[in-house]
Amino acid sequence: PHLHQLISAADFQEVARNTLTPKAWAFYSSAATDLVTHTQNKAVTRRVMFRPRILRDVKTVSTKRKILGCDSSVPFFVSPAAMARLAHPDGELALARGCANEDIVQCISSNASYPLASIVKAGRKDQPFFLQLYVNVDRPKTEDLLSKAALLGIRGILVTVDAPVPGKREADERIAAENVASAISGAVASNDKKGGGMGRLMAQYVEKSLIWEDVQWIKRVSGLPVVLKGVQSAMDSRMAADWGCDGVMLSNHGGRSLDGAQPSILVLLELHRMCPEIFDKLEVYIDGGFERGSDILKAISLGATAVGVGRPYLYSLTYGEEGVEHLTQSK
Ligand code: FNR
Repeated sequence: PHLHQLISAADFQEVARNTLTPKAWAFYSSAATDLVTHTQNKAVTRRVMFRPRILRDVKTVSTKRKILGCDSSVPFFVSPAAMARLAHPDGELALARGCANEDIVQCISSNASYPLASIVKAGRKDQPFFLQLYVNVDRPKTEDLLSKAALLGIRGILVTVDAPVPGKREADERIAAENVASAISGAVASNDKKGGGMGRLMAQYVEKSLIWEDVQWIKRVSGLPVVLKGVQSAMDSRMAADWGCDGVMLSNHGGRSLDGAQPSILVLLELHRMCPEIFDKLEVYIDGGFERGSDILKAISLGATAVGVGRPYLYSLTYGEEGVEHLTQSK
């Protein structure tokens, strides 16, 4: 269909289902085992209802936000997702151009399909980017990546903490891997007795021994604000504040990691109940199943600074940078 016939994230998903290769669709859309967390992310967010207030002058409103000090035209940003090139030959480069035109922040995955420097260069001057980090078992490699990030003007590091081991994504495992390589991780796809699965393959270099002390190492080496991505309880949000994090991202990896983990929106409600002071200490982001402006508004109303949008942006890339722009404008 023509881009202008698409009016929602669900429409983009439908096009992606019909146009991506089976392997790309499986990798993008899949989630861990029985998809409980994946489906409940969206379902539970939809069950949280508004209590709209009335008679406030809404003649002039603004959706502008500062996210980790970066100017954004909206209170949402692009969550990091691997291998955007499976959707479009320009992959993350097209994403960068689309984000530049819409004034939104792109968080680049450690498993992006283009090198970090090329992605940053594809955007406009001073365009804000975050980098998502998987710590490499070969730690000097991570130190190199972090110094490179600082030099490239990356504005914050989102350290993923919910996936020390990859989730069991059966749809991804069932389809034999194509010969795709990840530009930054250097992983090359191959199937073995345990099945294929790009997720499992790309996780091979991820350090499993990461602990709280390492947050300080990441901060020191990068010199950048650090956000933990994949925080799933009030207790860990408090610890993140105590360990000097600049933000937490309430996330379960879009249900792709531990199936049965509580939906992200329930974690946000838990923070309200158990540690309301946290919202003054650090920035709180959230992702998982947010597809509409109204979904996003619920999280913002509950104190989140911004919401991450994952799969919908990958799906929008079937139309390249124009898809990214059109999705951003859709409600
Ligand atoms: C992801 N996600 C992810 N997260 C991360 O920290 N590093 C990564 O490399 C990836 N890669 C990735 C690939 C694909 C195909 C998907 C769908 C997701 C998780 C992502 O950042 C985000 O948490 C979820 O996608 C949010 O949920 P929604 O918006 O997709 O429902």
